[in-house]
Amino acid sequence: LNNGLALTPQMGWNSWNFFACNITEDLIRETADALVSTGLADLGYVYVNIDDCWSAASRDSEGQLVPDPKTFPSGIKALADYVHGKGLKLGIYSDAGAFTCQVRPGSLFHEVDDAELFASWEVDYLKYDNCFNLGIDPKKRYPPMRDALNATGRTIFYSLCEWGVEDPALWARGVGNSWRTTDDINDTWASMTTIADLNDKWASYAGPGGWNDPDMLEVGNGGMTYQEYRAHFSIWALMKAPLLIGCDVRNITDETFEILSNKEVIAVNQDSLGVQGRKVYVSGEDNCLQVWAGPLSGNRLVVALWNRCSKAATITAKWEALGLESSTSVSVRDLWQHKDLTDNAVSSFGAKVASHDCHMYIFAPKTAAHSAI
Ligand code: GLA
Repeated sequence: LNNGLALTPQMGWNSWNFFACNITEDLIRETADALVSTGLADLGYVYVNIDDCWSAASRDSEGQLVPDPKTFPSGIKALADYVHGKGLKLGIYSDAGAFTCQVRPGSLFHEVDDAELFASWEVDYLKYDNCFNLGIDPKKRYPPMRDALNATGRTIFYSLCEWGVEDPALWARGVGNSWRTTDDINDTWASMTTIADLNDKWASYAGPGGWNDPDMLEVGNGGMTYQEYRAHFSIWALMKAPLLIGCDVRNITDETFEILSNKEVIAVNQDSLGVQGRKVYVSGEDNCLQVWAGPLSGNRLVVALWNRCSKAATITAKWEALGLESSTSVSVRDLWQHKDLTDNAVSSFGAKVASHDCHMYIFAPKTAAHSAI
């Protein structure tokens, strides 16, 4: 969507993956505090996004949405002021249907009123869900909210959450700043890998202004190992996915922080070229040894060696799979070890990768521009 936003994928936090409906204004304020005090905000995680369950069960007598008086007694404007005071941005959630997924009032046929209300609260981001949609085509339900947001005069990030229905990559670039390509993620290796593969299919449709959204991060929520979370974060960064933290940042562990704060991996996600990396080579049983790669600015490449097998194995990226001439000399930097490994790799580069782990590198070819992957 050409609204000046999403030149790189959005970064921030969202309440759903860890808290679901257990949200309050205190939690949102404490999370904003924690994003700042941990340093995550300075690394780019600036959107503080409230998901479903912020609103009361019904609209008021004038037909307006109202924050749940028990959990958000001070209202959303006060929260926006607080979050803005910390240099962060506030996101809110609604639904392109009669109700949200947790059966709060939806915005279908209330687009203008609700967009004006969100703008009056100085909200910066809207996640717009797909429940209770009355069977109406998303291509008809999502543009009215885009137009209503645009008409408010406030610049609001517009995140489509239609779960991949009707292949949004094919139509959503002019509608939203990101679009969900899949059903909801959950905090398991099976879900995360399945979603990565589904999102990969739409790589060519992503770019500045509009990104494929394989759903929010589960890093730190406990259902995967350190290696699996590192792979999750690496691949999401490489795929130019939104980096929306989904854990409790008030109680973040050192391990989780180490993953989410990796500046070199974040820089891949936020690279100005804005091209989604892809799965470029597979081998092994069930194709579980994988090379993912994509171009970066400055004639560089990001390369991930991802071992989805049950045993450690050597994975090799061959130059031909990366669109490089085999004689090209390449310097290789490891983004997890934070180390330059060689300045003269030729024809291929391989490494032993632990089961379910993912190595991530920047390749800088010294000669000859590579062809697009
Ligand atoms: C849907 C969305 C999730 C979350 C929930 C909230 O399932 O896909 O991301 O917003 O609704 O109810």
